Amino acid sequence: MVGSLSSPPPGAAPDWTVPQDWPRYTAEEHALWDDLFARQAALLPGRVAPAFLAGLDMLRLSRPGIPDFSELNERLFAATRWTVVAVPGLVPDAVFFEHLANRRFVAGRFLRTRAQIDYLEEPDIFHDVFGHVPLLADPVFADYMQAYGEGGLRSMRFGALHKLARLYWYTVEFGLLRDGGDLKLYGAGIVSSRTESLFARDDPSPNRLGFDLLRLMRTNYRIDDFQETYFVIDSFEDLLRQTIETDFEPLYAALETLDDLAPADVLAEDLVLHRGDQSYARGRRPA
Ligand SMILES: [Fe+2]
Repeated sequence: MVGSLSSPPPGAAPDWTVPQDWPRYTAEEHALWDDLFARQAALLPGRVAPAFLAGLDMLRLSRPGIPDFSELNERLFAATRWTVVAVPGLVPDAVFFEHLANRRFVAGRFLRTRAQIDYLEEPDIFHDVFGHVPLLADPVFADYMQAYGEGGLRSMRFGALHKLARLYWYTVEFGLLRDGGDLKLYGAGIVSSRTESLFARDDPSPNRLGFDLLRLMRTNYRIDDFQETYFVIDSFEDLLRQTIETDFEPLYAALETLDDLAPADVLAEDLVLHRGDQSYARGRRPA
């Protein structure tokens, strides 16, 4: 969650964290969490990366009610030395990256309302904890998230943050994973959404293209609707290796000379796993 304010709001620590204040959640909020959890738990097996289900299980996220971060962190820290910290809302880029680089995941502490059950603009605790935290219990993905935070801090020195942000978007938020001949979901924006869990993997509309770092960092994305293209990684190991072994400075320089691509573009050199018919996207645009 990244915003443009420069100093923490009243009540927040200098690193923008706040107490989760778990006792403040209402019975209705705990019940809504349980309903959101039950919907995704029914939908995801067979569709989601096995590591995600393993993380849910290891962190005991299936227990009723909104998780208490202090309990959650005991298990998460024991697994991968990550912790979840609460923040009051959007945080500046540098704060976000600094937390990631130190294996702290910033999470919203508020829960959506029942009226927002299928869509809300700002990430809430269900998106942040159900969507993101299970994979932080996976040792390889956990290292990738730290590497991303370190890369984020570096990218700010090159004025390339908006390019690197696309890597987060198309992996951490909206990534797909190849699993034998099958595709599995792992992006938090997908797995925390009932409708996108179905759309991203099973709908004929979007493109599904092989992961290519440079190509992906040229590609604009949709912030307010389903993606028109999803990028598919071979494995978390490969994603981590490419992120650690790539020198991003020449990539950023190369990106300066290349035009950005529209979300639905398909290039001759793309590895096309599925060429989307974009029927959904066309139906959403004014004629
Ligand atoms: Fe997210």
